[in-house]
Amino acid sequence: MIIDLHSHILPGVDDGSPDTETSLKMLRMASEQGVEVQVLTPHYYPWNESIPDFLARREAGLKALKDAAGDTPRLLCGSETAFFAGMSRKDLDPLCIEGTGTLLIEMPFESWDSRTVDEIAALSLDRGYDVVLAHIERFIHYRGNLRRLQELSRLPLFLQINGEAFRSLRKRRTALWLAKMEKAPVLGSDAHNCTTRRPDTAPARRVIEKCLGRACLEEMDRAAEYLTGGLRKPESGEQTRNE
Ligand SMILES: [Fe+2]
Repeated sequence: MIIDLHSHILPGVDDGSPDTETSLKMLRMASEQGVEVQVLTPHYYPWNESIPDFLARREAGLKALKDAAGDTPRLLCGSETAFFAGMSRKDLDPLCIEGTGTLLIEMPFESWDSRTVDEIAALSLDRGYDVVLAHIERFIHYRGNLRRLQELSRLPLFLQINGEAFRSLRKRRTALWLAKMEKAPVLGSDAHNCTTRRPDTAPARRVIEKCLGRACLEEMDRAAEYLTGGLRKPESGEQTRNE
């Protein structure tokens, strides 16, 4: 089962696809690359709008897409929710990937402090969400974040890495290093359009298979399948690849 866990394909909902024509083209590209389940994760910024307002916009985008869509991968709605202080005290269930407790979180683009780690820990341990940290490779260059990531990696979290990081010669080393960390990584295209940030699941998978092996790719697929409502939760031993 090939799953793309992170994308901005819904038309006119965020800075991703601007219209249904682009969305359909993106879905065709994903489908041609073997994607069977496409998770739609528009940005949710809590300081811009309420959750009900966001859900209404997301629903309108989904309706427009479904009205126009022919053969597409299976579509699942979720969100890419921006981190905010106090989020662990809110009801975030409607922002999870539908039918699951999987919450894709975009961390702050700055150095994280202990409160950031505590907030994520509360979401994971107290609230029981399956927290996925979106495109984790984009945050580790901020001062001190590598240490914070080591603290976070003691939690039952999932780290999502963008396909682009595996494709880029400049970023590949970091992406592969992250993918080898002890927690199960998951792949996402984070596709926004058909050109500069296009669906790229297949080329990213080729790099992962070549550099880390088929078993690693299958482990990533199992994690993604769990996060979208299939399979049981990977045991910690199954999440660990460096032992
Ligand atoms: Fe994104």
